[in-house]
Amino acid sequence: MTVKINENYLLLQNSYLFAEIANRVENYKKENPDKEIISMGIGDVTKPLVPSVVKAFSKAVDDMGVADDFKGYGPEQGYSFLAEKIIENDYKPFGVNLDLDEVFISDGAKCDTANIQEIFDINNKVAVTDPVYTVYVDTNVMAGRTGEMKDDGMYEGLVYLPCREENGFIPSLPDEEVDLIYLCFPNNPTGTTLTKDQLKTFVDYAREHKSLILFDAAYEKFINESDVPHSIYEIEGAKEVAIEFRSFSKTAGFTGTRCAYTIVPKELKGYDDNGNSHSLNELWNRRQTTKFNGVSFPVQIAAAATYSEEGKKEIQDNIDYYMKNAKLIRVKLNELGLDVYGGVNSPYLWIKIPDGIDSWGFFDKLLNEANIVGTPGAGFGPSGEGYLRLTAFNTLENTIEAMDRISKLKF
Ligand code: MLT
Repeated sequence: MTVKINENYLLLQNSYLFAEIANRVENYKKENPDKEIISMGIGDVTKPLVPSVVKAFSKAVDDMGVADDFKGYGPEQGYSFLAEKIIENDYKPFGVNLDLDEVFISDGAKCDTANIQEIFDINNKVAVTDPVYTVYVDTNVMAGRTGEMKDDGMYEGLVYLPCREENGFIPSLPDEEVDLIYLCFPNNPTGTTLTKDQLKTFVDYAREHKSLILFDAAYEKFINESDVPHSIYEIEGAKEVAIEFRSFSKTAGFTGTRCAYTIVPKELKGYDDNGNSHSLNELWNRRQTTKFNGVSFPVQIAAAATYSEEGKKEIQDNIDYYMKNAKLIRVKLNELGLDVYGGVNSPYLWIKIPDGIDSWGFFDKLLNEANIVGTPGAGFGPSGEGYLRLTAFNTLENTIEAMDRISKLKF
């Protein structure tokens, strides 16, 4: 007997984008141990958990050591004390009502956006924006929903919706029938957004074609402008056609703590071969109860504390701090004559690279000549070529220093 592998994995690029970047940075550091690297690559927060979250978190850890307060397995879908707060704070103010059993608390939006495709048929046609958060693509490759990567950097069988300067980074509707559409707004990586009207065209498309939108709203808390929807459910009819993913990672500094949630409305239906409809909420619940044991009790208590009056204020201060960095990056790079997108409703800035250098070349130039780590746009898909992403997750001092170093480069 021999162990056969899932050969779909052989269709993947050699390594996950951020793993590849980490490798290159590690190699650079080995050869240049005295250089001070400023990381503006992976979107990882730099500020610690806020005091009110730490207080609640540590009390919950202490409670776990007290017989009467100890918690064993919790509900796989998460505790209702957190789901209630999510509905009250993240949805009600935007006119969206949800039931508790439409909220599934998890350990990450990355895992949820990756795992959700399991409940759908392998033959569903998938559309992604290009550039794209690579997890949506890679997990569909792993599942066998694509063919090989073609010379143009696109996988056979996937539908790509280009988002470039020429179309204002607004994806067009697919020009062929698709079943699943991944959208992420505020967008990772471009940092750009859709207005309510622009998002409505996708909801209307999905209603008309019985498709489903997988809407990643992990950066929702960074929205500043009033016509940018916070939730896809602000759009009429979206509960019939959209699953929404949210995360405490970037919002509340939970990248290392792990807590997120996914909304699967009970209106959502999928179909079997005989055309019978089935509840997607029930399928996802079945998946989660079988494969997931829930997020730890102290982490859910910590997440609930982000909704206390104190917690909200402390978190908003952190977000404002990052967004000040974003503004500084935009202003400084504009002064240098670079075109910069995003950074208004998002911690990501999408920089157009000067002519004559590609995005991995520019990544290397920044690393070697300015000791700054960005993320090459091409790593997010073929339409990302010609761009580089920087994040605003850093200290103000490092951000100023990084802009100073870039201003000394020759383009
Ligand atoms: C990114 O840098 O794109 C994100 O940190 C990735 C993630 O959230 O998994």
